[in-house]
Amino acid sequence: MDSSVDPNVPLAIGEVIRRTGVSASALHFYERKGLIFSSRDGCNQRLYARHMLRRISLIIVAKRLGVPLAELAAMFACLPQDHHSPTHEDWQRMSRTWKRQLQERRRVLEDLEHELTGCIGCGCLSMKACALLNPDDTLQDQGPGPVRLRQSPRR
Ligand code: FES
Repeated sequence: MDSSVDPNVPLAIGEVIRRTGVSASALHFYERKGLIFSSRDGCNQRLYARHMLRRISLIIVAKRLGVPLAELAAMFACLPQDHHSPTHEDWQRMSRTWKRQLQERRRVLEDLEHELTGCIGCGCLSMKACALLNPDDTLQDQGPGPVRLRQSPRR
């Protein structure tokens, strides 16, 4: 690590773009969504606290995993809503909450993977397994969509 890096010195937007690979318009969008914050320097240029790099990195990963930004915003609500650096405890609190949601997401993905070639209870009755697992589309009484995936048959 470069010992000359001062974590308290904010980063100009160009540096944030260089470090994260995220465009200026995306950064502005994340700001409007309340996911990140900036301040202004004397020339009205955006400055980002260095810990925003971590938030932006989590946004990048979350987007790749298909996590809705609203869910991420709820997670970030556990963190200080200003320019103060989150403490280790802040990140741990966020991590615990998010971990539960990620585990549920993983369970759904595993169920989907497991049931991909079987009946998912969607009402199509197009597979051999449907006659057994959704005879006469009886699962429609339990609501719309892929009922068997929602029920998590492997749980
Ligand atoms: S796969 Fe659609 S009802 Fe079975």
